[in-house]
Amino acid sequence: MPTVRGKSIRVLFDAETIARRNAELAGEIAAAGYVDLLVISVLKGSFVFAADLLRALHHAGLSPEVDFLSVSSYGAGTVSPGKITLLRDIGSDVAGRDVLIIDDILESGRTIEFARNLMIERGARRVGVVVLLDKAGKRAQQIDADHVAFTCPDFFVVGYGMDAGHAFRELPFVGVVEED
Ligand code: IMP
Ligand code: MG
Repeated sequence: MPTVRGKSIRVLFDAETIARRNAELAGEIAAAGYVDLLVISVLKGSFVFAADLLRALHHAGLSPEVDFLSVSSYGAGTVSPGKITLLRDIGSDVAGRDVLIIDDILESGRTIEFARNLMIERGARRVGVVVLLDKAGKRAQQIDADHVAFTCPDFFVVGYGMDAGHAFRELPFVGVVEED
């Protein structure tokens, strides 16, 4: 088990498994027929997934534009505050465009519902959602992703862009911090 910051990390999804799945997912997205695609990565948690998925999209034959959105999230704790606010907006005009929102985890669904509604209000033609992990049992909003890399058991996970108290984003895998 890898040890980081003195903590043992149990690996849930290793780097090879993620890379393989990203390639499949990119094929699925390419087959979904998005036109003149704008990909929107929800910061900070999705930045590593977005970077890898973008390159997989290139290999799948797509040439998307990219923008970034930042919303309030857990902060340093692990309990969702429930209310979502926009911290950093995209710079792109989405009216009449196909957009694909990329996030790390779909849990309560509040983050994705917020981002999706924002794009619909602004007149996006089509709004797709892709997430790395789906914690399906934790939904507070009736919302699903169009594309999911992995369904995730109900653990607080870190790595591959995701943090616990601002730590562990650099891990090349998704894992769970073991209690000592
Ligand atoms: P939702 O709004 O409840 O769907 O929460 C989704 C957001 O919460 C994700 O974009 C993550 O940033 C964060 N989040 C949820 N679960 C975890 C976790 O297990 N580890 C790290 N971040 C998480
Ligand atoms: Mg997030």
